[in-house]
Amino acid sequence: MTVDLRGKVVVVTGASLGIGRATAFGFAAEGARLVLSYHEHEGEARAVAEHCGELGAPEVVTAPLDLGDEGSVRAFAATVLERFEGIDILVNNAGIVVWRRFVEQELDEIETQVRVNLLGTLMLTRLLLPGVRDAVIDIASTASLHGSATLAPYGASKWGLRGFTKALAKEHPELRLYNVHPAVTATRMNDFKGMDPARVAEVIVRVARGGIALEPGADVDLRDFA
Ligand SMILES: NC(=O)c1ccc[n+]([C@@H]2O[C@H](COP(=O)([O-])OP(=O)(O)OC[C@H]3O[C@@H](n4cnc5c(N)ncnc54)[C@H](OP(=O)(O)O)[C@@H]3O)[C@@H](O)[C@H]2O)c1
Repeated sequence: MTVDLRGKVVVVTGASLGIGRATAFGFAAEGARLVLSYHEHEGEARAVAEHCGELGAPEVVTAPLDLGDEGSVRAFAATVLERFEGIDILVNNAGIVVWRRFVEQELDEIETQVRVNLLGTLMLTRLLLPGVRDAVIDIASTASLHGSATLAPYGASKWGLRGFTKALAKEHPELRLYNVHPAVTATRMNDFKGMDPARVAEVIVRVARGGIALEPGADVDLRDFA
């Protein structure tokens, strides 16, 4: 199955920087209409939106989203649903990390990672899912395929997200739900060392196009595409 992404409505969270920005560019080049969220980097998000227009996106909306704040999640979902009748593809990309041994992490750091990466992402998906027509692509991590020292709360949040995707895929056989697991990628999160985020974005867009044969709830490991 191949999906023509032209004119499709694609929501990408955390699109102001890194993998989300590269993913927005990838969908823009396919002619998709885009909703891009940012948290602190509004100016960067506007620049991303402008470039998406140059790449071929017929419509680009930017909106603030703090996945750690229920009110913000509700406001973002309302913006999306007021603007578009439905969403073709939701890419849950936004995420945060604290790299430190577990006993050295403060309780608020543990809470924020779980809130943003897991709880906020679930809340947003809950609000948008009735409007989703085709696919949900959750950006987890290779840290949800194994255990990584210094990433215990982050790993817990991403293992949780991965389990969520798999369970939801069983409830919604009419939709395509997958986890994409970036390995070390050269973004702010990772001190700009590792794989080119454009490479990760290419795989995300390929998954969205249906260009990779996948079981419902499947894991797409970026190390297989290095
Ligand atoms: N980089 C890696 O090596 C790697 C590896 C595996 C998985 N991943 C996953 O890939 C995804 C993207 O990461 P990245 O490397 O591109 O990170 P990044 O460059 O730090 O970008 C993170 C994005 O998330 C947004 N964000 C941060 N806090 C937020 C919040 N509270 N609510 C909503 N959005 C928020 C940021 O918005 P603002 O900048 O506007 O604040 C930004 O757009 C994450 O889920 C991450 O866990 C990354």
